[in-house]
Amino acid sequence: MHITFAKIAVPKQGAAVIGVAEGGKLGPAAAKLDKQVHGTLSRAMKAAEFTGKREKTLVIVSPAGSKLDRVILVGLGSVKTLDATAAERIGASIYDAVSKDTGVTVLLEGGGFEAGAVAAHFAGGMVLKSYRFTKYLTKESKDSKPKLKSVEVQSDAPADAKKRYVAVEAVCDGVFFTRDVITEPPNIIYPESFVARAKELAKDGIKVEALGEAAMKKLGMGALLGVGQGSRKESQVLVLRWDGAKNKSDAPLAIVGKGVTFDTGGISLKPPAGMWDMKWDMGGAGVVVGLMRALARRKAPVNVVGLCGLVENMPDGNAQRPGDVVTSMSGQTIEVLNTDAEGRLVLADVLWYAQQRFKPKAIVDLATLTGAIIAALSDHYAGIFSNNDELSNKLIAAGQAVSERLWRLPMGDEYDRDLKSPIADMKNIGGPRAGSITAAQFLQRFIKDVPWAHLDIAGVVWNEKPTALAPGGGTGYGVRLLNRFIADNYEK
Ligand code: BES
Ligand code: MN
Ligand code: ZN
Repeated sequence: MHITFAKIAVPKQGAAVIGVAEGGKLGPAAAKLDKQVHGTLSRAMKAAEFTGKREKTLVIVSPAGSKLDRVILVGLGSVKTLDATAAERIGASIYDAVSKDTGVTVLLEGGGFEAGAVAAHFAGGMVLKSYRFTKYLTKESKDSKPKLKSVEVQSDAPADAKKRYVAVEAVCDGVFFTRDVITEPPNIIYPESFVARAKELAKDGIKVEALGEAAMKKLGMGALLGVGQGSRKESQVLVLRWDGAKNKSDAPLAIVGKGVTFDTGGISLKPPAGMWDMKWDMGGAGVVVGLMRALARRKAPVNVVGLCGLVENMPDGNAQRPGDVVTSMSGQTIEVLNTDAEGRLVLADVLWYAQQRFKPKAIVDLATLTGAIIAALSDHYAGIFSNNDELSNKLIAAGQAVSERLWRLPMGDEYDRDLKSPIADMKNIGGPRAGSITAAQFLQRFIKDVPWAHLDIAGVVWNEKPTALAPGGGTGYGVRLLNRFIADNYEK
């Protein structure tokens, strides 16, 4: 989709999207449309009770008195609350209505708000909603294919819009990269092929490095290696570095992702129904690679290191058994009572490695860690657990701002006690209650005096149904959130 920005003009042909602020009056340029069209639109708005409510649309086909094929009126809502995220959602809300046109003009009139930001983010929202994953469809019907090639967004500040769109587009690229790796089937994306895919990031200016099993053995990553030992695929730790800060030796921020490319549960095998969902058990790692692309493409002035623990959790003659005791890189021993609680074992070693090697100023991990977080929050919020109120509040605020919401859950010794094992330093599962919290407690045992937050994203990585900014499938949740968190708190 080719996006351009232009000054307000009166669209004369093709399809036009016209933004209408709450109250339901056409702006001055739209009012300059041929008198008769203006009358047609006003009548249609009245007849359909269209009042400019945010994200509501009204399609008028070949309006009488004009050469326009179609006019799509879209509600902007109250101009006072029209910020970047609102604009994004409004852009996304009209995508389906125009996807069968080859080109479209968007008329965004009105003062009182940041016209350039609104135009840029409106375009970004359209792009995010236009995501498709069709590479394995050999027969796609012509009708289902979108035709939209070019979008011209008209506003009072086209130059500003164009400038801002550079960063917006970078984030869209990141979200698409995340959705791509999440959607790929598990025979295509496994630890080594994930690494190969991530090597594309070198072109964006990111340093890409991977550790194989021999290197991990030397480091003593017994927890991660135990998870991968039942798989034919070699486990990997992926390390991505973006050193965008003026001072390249500034301590980085570390973002760590769970990358279980398929989770059968191992010997504690999952039931067959729905097991296919476990292809997106690498969703945390998917966010890490997409975020790194976004940061690099918008040349963010910040040092960030992204790490992914990549393994496949399979049952096999060599798989780990319930009851095995493994030694993590930290030296702490773990009794593995349930091989399906594998994400925490992977993260234990990658979190430790991240701290040892990079001395980060803060660590954020993302993981599709527990089914229990879905029971608690559904797909409306991801869970956040943290040892630091300030870090936690910053993440929650960023999530609120981009509408990828986080809800904080408690931590404490009373939960930690559930991890006691009679024969090792801990077991890898708690009791039947508060499963997301005991999982977080487990992770915290591998954090040493550094602000840390854990995001349990099991409920938000994938959504069968379309969401505000995605057509259904991988959502890319987390990329916009962390991008905003970094932009607001760590740049310059
Ligand atoms: N990957 C799963 C969690 C999950 C479940 C993600 C559903 C997305 C959708 C994780 O590895 C897992 O199996 N967790 C277990 C932990 C339990 C054995 C303590 C769970 O949540 O049941
Ligand atoms: Mn599991
Ligand atoms: Zn898992």
